[in-house]
Amino acid sequence: MSRLRLEYANCLADRVGTHGISASTLEAASRQMSDLTQQLNSSKGTGMECWRLLPFDPLRTAHLEGINSLTKKHRDSTDNLVVLGIGGSALGNIALHNALCPLTYNLMPRPERDGPRIFVLDNVDPQVITRTFAEIKRTDPSFERTLVNVISKSGETAETAALFMIARGILSEAMGDKHSDHIVAITDPKQGTMRSICDEAGYETLPVPEGVGGRFSVLSPVGLFSSAMCGIDIKALLDGAAEMDERCCEPDIRQNPAAMLAFLLIELTRQGKINHVLMPYCNALYSLADWYRQLWAESLGKRVDLQGNEVFAGATPIKALGTTDQHSQIQLYREGPNDKVIGFVEVETWDDDVCIPAGLGVENLSYLEGVNLSDLLKAEKKATEYALVESQRPNFTITLPRLDAHCVGQFIQMWEIATAYAGLMLNINPYDQPAVETGKVATFGLMGRAGYEGWKDKVEKTLDTSSHMIE
Ligand code: PA5
Repeated sequence: MSRLRLEYANCLADRVGTHGISASTLEAASRQMSDLTQQLNSSKGTGMECWRLLPFDPLRTAHLEGINSLTKKHRDSTDNLVVLGIGGSALGNIALHNALCPLTYNLMPRPERDGPRIFVLDNVDPQVITRTFAEIKRTDPSFERTLVNVISKSGETAETAALFMIARGILSEAMGDKHSDHIVAITDPKQGTMRSICDEAGYETLPVPEGVGGRFSVLSPVGLFSSAMCGIDIKALLDGAAEMDERCCEPDIRQNPAAMLAFLLIELTRQGKINHVLMPYCNALYSLADWYRQLWAESLGKRVDLQGNEVFAGATPIKALGTTDQHSQIQLYREGPNDKVIGFVEVETWDDDVCIPAGLGVENLSYLEGVNLSDLLKAEKKATEYALVESQRPNFTITLPRLDAHCVGQFIQMWEIATAYAGLMLNINPYDQPAVETGKVATFGLMGRAGYEGWKDKVEKTLDTSSHMIE
């Protein structure tokens, strides 16, 4: 099976001088990283690290059985799958769909598609919601061939709750009590607001397993159900993740992609490279860069360390797209502040390729004649890598041998484990998100939720703009 590769020579001082990591620093880190590997190997599957067990039995089989049975029941009778969720309950679904289904998936005629059209709704943007439901109604006026998949571990998230209430209202208006056959919820199996709603209404459910936080949940039913509905090979995703997990138990940092990735990025952060760009040379992988942004930002951006000392840890993850952003961002990356690490993501063998035809007869462009687009893409990436090295800008490359579920599974597990290493290196808790709470409760206050009344005044007073406004 094809193994994902990590090339990191361009992060070392040999290539990028003082902006890279010296041989002695890497040597000294080997011991420390091997200790961290031991620590992670022994905490695997405990506390908030249950996500590491998702690709393995018994969770794997239990989840596959539940997902397969619901997919079998709903796939042929569904033309529109509406996924509702936000943050960790949506970004993985979007990433998997965009990476592994054709770009034109929703536009394809049903017989050519391996499942229903999919609409992942996360933002409470009224225009998006209006237009999406109008489009669904156009093709399915009775909503009988529409399935709503609401994903919320807590059921308390205002955006998802609002979208769920809207979707439920539309379905009940169209089909009364029968609407409950058109809702599949993914939520906490034991507790929470969504759990109570499901128990009361009798919705079918799949679990967000215990010890699996939102941004680490893509390989649980959270990401796998909508993928299976769209024909993605979810077993191959889990196989890839399991194989990567085994590679990441290796104590030698030079054999362990997640340990090396975390070491490079955290060490370079210490050297002032506080912006971490992920730049796939593949449109289908662009949403995976969005998924990575949440994982890296929400997990590592922390005010205090495990002892409560203020540390303001973290780095700013940025997404870019090759070659598009060569014509937009690379000027800054090469000549602006040397405060970034650029991570390229490359696909080695493309299933689709296009040969540029000969015959234009323009001498300056003849070098392109008869060339495959994938070769042009590779040359562009290599040239950009060279240009960055020439400007002493550290960078690395992750290569996916193919764009398939097995490789994407490896990619996901590698980044999640790298995040766990980074958490240990920074001595912070990568599994909480205390800073998100203030915005959540302030929203409750502004929207008049009982018990949060004080927040409304507090917010209005603090944000009073009357004396500093241009009208
Ligand atoms: O990573 C996380 O924990 C968050 O992004 C959550 O996934 C997000 O806030 C949604 O939460 P919930 O699934 O409870 O609606």
